[in-house]
Order: sequence, then C-alpha cells, then structure tokens
Amino acid sequence: MGDDGHGHRQSRLFTTEEGEFDADRAREESLPVEDGELIDTDELADHQRYVEGRGIYDERNRVNDLTGKEWKYATKSVIAEGYPPDLQHELRSEHGGQKPPRLCAELIGRFSKAGDTVLDPFAGVGGTLLGASLCEHEGTGLREAIGFERNERWVDVYETVLEQENEERRARGDPPLEPQELRHGDCADLIEDVPEHSIDLLLTDVPYWHMDELEQTRNERRTRESKLGSFDGATGDDGGDSNDGEPVADEERTKAEWLADMGEKFSRFADAVDPTGHVVVFIGDMYRDQSYEFLSADLARAIESAAPLTLAANLIWYDPTKDLHVYGYPFSFVPSMVHQNVLVFRLESESESEAEDEQD
Ligand SMILES: C[S@@+](CC[C@H](N)C(=O)[O-])C[C@H]1O[C@@H](n2cnc3c(N)ncnc32)[C@H](O)[C@@H]1O
Repeated sequence: MGDDGHGHRQSRLFTTEEGEFDADRAREESLPVEDGELIDTDELADHQRYVEGRGIYDERNRVNDLTGKEWKYATKSVIAEGYPPDLQHELRSEHGGQKPPRLCAELIGRFSKAGDTVLDPFAGVGGTLLGASLCEHEGTGLREAIGFERNERWVDVYETVLEQENEERRARGDPPLEPQELRHGDCADLIEDVPEHSIDLLLTDVPYWHMDELEQTRNERRTRESKLGSFDGATGDDGGDSNDGEPVADEERTKAEWLADMGEKFSRFADAVDPTGHVVVFIGDMYRDQSYEFLSADLARAIESAAPLTLAANLIWYDPTKDLHVYGYPFSFVPSMVHQNVLVFRLESESESEAEDEQD
C-alpha cells in the first residue's frame, strides 16, 4: 500500500494511543483489513472482491463460496470438533449411524456453492439433508438436497425431526429449516432418475461392512434357520449403537463383496455429478483380531478403480468429546478410535478417463 494512497489516509484515522495502526478498530468500522493491514480495494484485480469481515473472494472460485482467508482453514486436513447433540439428537440417534448435521453443513460449505444441489444416496435420518438446510442460516446459503433411503423408518424419523425442530425454531422466533426431499427406495434404482451432471456435491456416509458381526451372524445363522426362513433380506433391521440400520443380509457379505458393491454403486452415482463437482464419503476404520482394518483405504481404492473418481484428500474428523475406554491394557496396544475418515474425490476429467480407456 502506497504511503500517500487512500488506504493509508484512512488507516491514520485508526491509531492506538501509541500511534500504531489499530486493526481491531478499523475492522469494527468495517474497513477492509487483512492480516492487520488496510487493503486498498482499488488495487484488487477485476476478479477479486472484498467481503466485509471475511477477506478477499476470487470470482473464479469454482469449488465453494469461500474467501482466500476462509479457504486456508477449510483445506486443513483435520476437523477437530465435537458437535454437541442438537437437532432432535435423541430421535436421530435411534439410527445409531447418524452424522452431526453441523459437520455436514461444514463440509457442504467447503465443497459446494449457495444454490447448488447435494445428493446423499445413503441418507439415513438425514444428517446431510439437515446440513444443507442449516447452510441457509449459518452464512453459507441454502443448498437443495436430495436423499435416498431404503429403510422407511429412517425416512419417517427425518420427517418427524424436521417437524419437531421447526416447531421449536418457530417458538424461539428462529426461521424454520427448509424441508429437503428424502426419497424412499434403493439408491441403485433411484439414481436412474437423477439427470446426468445435475449434482454438484455427493455427500454420504456409506453403509458399513459389519466385520465384527460377520462371524457371529454366520454362527447364529445355523441355530436360527427357522427364523431366517422368513427373512427376505429387505426389511430386517436391528437398530442400536453398533448398527446403522442395515439389513442383516449386509452383515453377511464378505468384505470383497461389500467393496465391489460400493465400487459399482459409486460408478453409477458419478454420472449424476457435475464434472466440476465432488464426491465426499464418511468411512470409519476398524480394529479387529489384533489388526487395524484400513477400510477407508480399501474403500478409496475400490471406488477409484470402479468409478471415474480420483481421491483428492482424506480429511480426518477428530471428535475430542468421544468417550475413551481402556482397550488392551496392559498387554496390547489397541487404538481408541476417536476419528473418522472423510474421503474427498473429484471427477476425472474426460481426457483422463479417455486416456485410461485407451490403456485398457
Ligand atoms: C451410515 S447410514 C447413513 C447415516 C446418515 N449419514 C445420517 O446422518 O443419518 C447408511 C444408510 O444407508 C441406508 N442404505 C443402505 N443400503 C442402501 C441402498 N441400497 N439404498 C438406499 N439406502 C441404503 C441404510 O439403511 C442406512 O440408513
């Protein structure tokens, strides 16, 4: 900034008693202050715009609506935040695999723009959908969200959550959350109705391969044959904390089958996503039989090899409020899992996919 520029003149109005530039006061007065310096907005490039209190926004930003200053924090590879129970948490926790809507809102703000469309093909009780609605009231702007969920119970829970939450918000005088569309059915069928490239962000939390329950279920199966005779694999659901509402049939799949199924599903989902969009997937790792099961890495590779998607990042969501337990003491080191992985994929450009097809 030049000594005799407009910015300098303004900055002289905001001096501390010691004669130093008082950035806090200048900021309070809504002047464009970045890193303690007053910005000369006349010097910004045509594609740059100063956003009060947020920094400089580059109009060429295709990823999100964040300014450079916000981007610096939004690209951190660890999200170290415990999200206190809210948005009808008790009701949503009937699911057991629900995600904090505020965490979803945070990710939606990082990987989409106001007015964009977000899809969650494994929507559960609607963490992503609620997150998309929250964006309207938390500064980043409303997104439209579509969810698919094959268990009708979770569709009903989402609708009740929204109803109760909005009743409370109205009673408090807060604006209600925009309802989003949660379609009941199998994502493999429902994805067929989503137009190509119409989704800007696919944010989801995949149904788990229930490794811990696999062996137990197989053993139990032998002793429960009469009960299983009537099981059709489509409606079974045992709820509870260790389960995310999956039919028992999913627990009996091998890991290879689970990975192949996920790969196939994501290759279909990818067609619905805009070439500039992102696919963001929650997945926790597991520990079993003295060994770490790197499910996130396995899933990332399975998706990359089946779908035209490239892994751009693995964000870690570290929840510092998670309860700790003594596992393995004093004989064996067993990790207390206080994190989940958030895999971030971008679409391969057409030229990349064509080059790969040629190699095949
Ligand atoms: C990990 S949970 C998602 C939880 C969600 N993030 C939330 O906040 O509630 C995965 C969900 O996918 C659903 N699901 C599994 N396979 C499905 C399929 N083929 N089509 C639609 N939903 C499916 C399960 O019923 C389960 O509710």
